[in-house]
Amino acid sequence: MIDFSIDRDKCIQCGECAADCPAGIIAMGDYPEMTDEGRCYRCQHCYTVCPTRAVSILGLTPEGDQPEKELPSPAQMKDLIKWRRSVRRYRDENLPAALIDELVDTTFHAPTGVNAQGVVFTVVRDKAFMDKLRRETLDRLGALADAGKLPEGIISQYLGFAVKVWRSEGRDAIFRGAPHMLLTSTPPGVPCAVQDAHIALTTFELLASSHGLGTLWDGMFMMALAICPELRDTLRIPADHAIGYAMLFGRPDVQYHRPVKRGPAKVNILE
Ligand SMILES: Cc1cc2nc3c(=O)[nH]c(=O)nc-3n(C[C@H](O)[C@H](O)[C@H](O)COP(=O)(O)O)c2cc1C
Repeated sequence: MIDFSIDRDKCIQCGECAADCPAGIIAMGDYPEMTDEGRCYRCQHCYTVCPTRAVSILGLTPEGDQPEKELPSPAQMKDLIKWRRSVRRYRDENLPAALIDELVDTTFHAPTGVNAQGVVFTVVRDKAFMDKLRRETLDRLGALADAGKLPEGIISQYLGFAVKVWRSEGRDAIFRGAPHMLLTSTPPGVPCAVQDAHIALTTFELLASSHGLGTLWDGMFMMALAICPELRDTLRIPADHAIGYAMLFGRPDVQYHRPVKRGPAKVNILE
């Protein structure tokens, strides 16, 4: 149910809603009209572009005070990007559940192909669960290593090392002692599943960074998941979902005093 309606007392017939509709399904007669509800992307552009709060859609009616738009400056964004670091040392403490929920809810605003909004976020919100996952993962990998069943090549090299340092030093090279993890997955039929899942985590990473939190893309755990499918069940990921990626996060137990230096960027300039 799209439920598109125009408050004619407020509408100034500017045509912005029709001009901005990505599907081109809002026609301007005297007043805007939706011509083909079936093709609506549910993107809410008509709702958000209307200068006079005349457009209602999907049960949304703009009422009350408008939220203040407080955007970071370009310099602040540049700093956020340059100061972000992969964090591999975490404080052994849970973040407030409300903060985690807020981060994930904000992340859900990241763009998705055809506005599918199909990404599912699996969130480890309690470090006790991370401990359980850590133990299960390293036990399973240890058993595979002992049986000589770690796949050859880079997987064997990295995960074999993880098992070795876990056993010899109690060092966690897979989860790095992080208290939390966010994993993206998508059900069948999501048109841009790979991109959506990664864009979501990139968005989450920058947002978490703006809160002074640390994150780490966890390729090691992705390898472990690939060879220990039982871990999917532990994480209660539906069997038909495509896994996006895993990201660790938490309060950092490390401070960086300057940004790294990179570049120049590799570019192919056309003019
Ligand atoms: C897709 C991806 C997977 C990664 N997997 C791991 C990992 O498993 N373990 C790890 O310690 N770092 C991992 N990293 C972090 C990279 O090593 C890191 O981004 C790189 O060294 C640059 O450091 P910086 O993120 O602090 O700028 C991963 C990064 C990405 C983007």
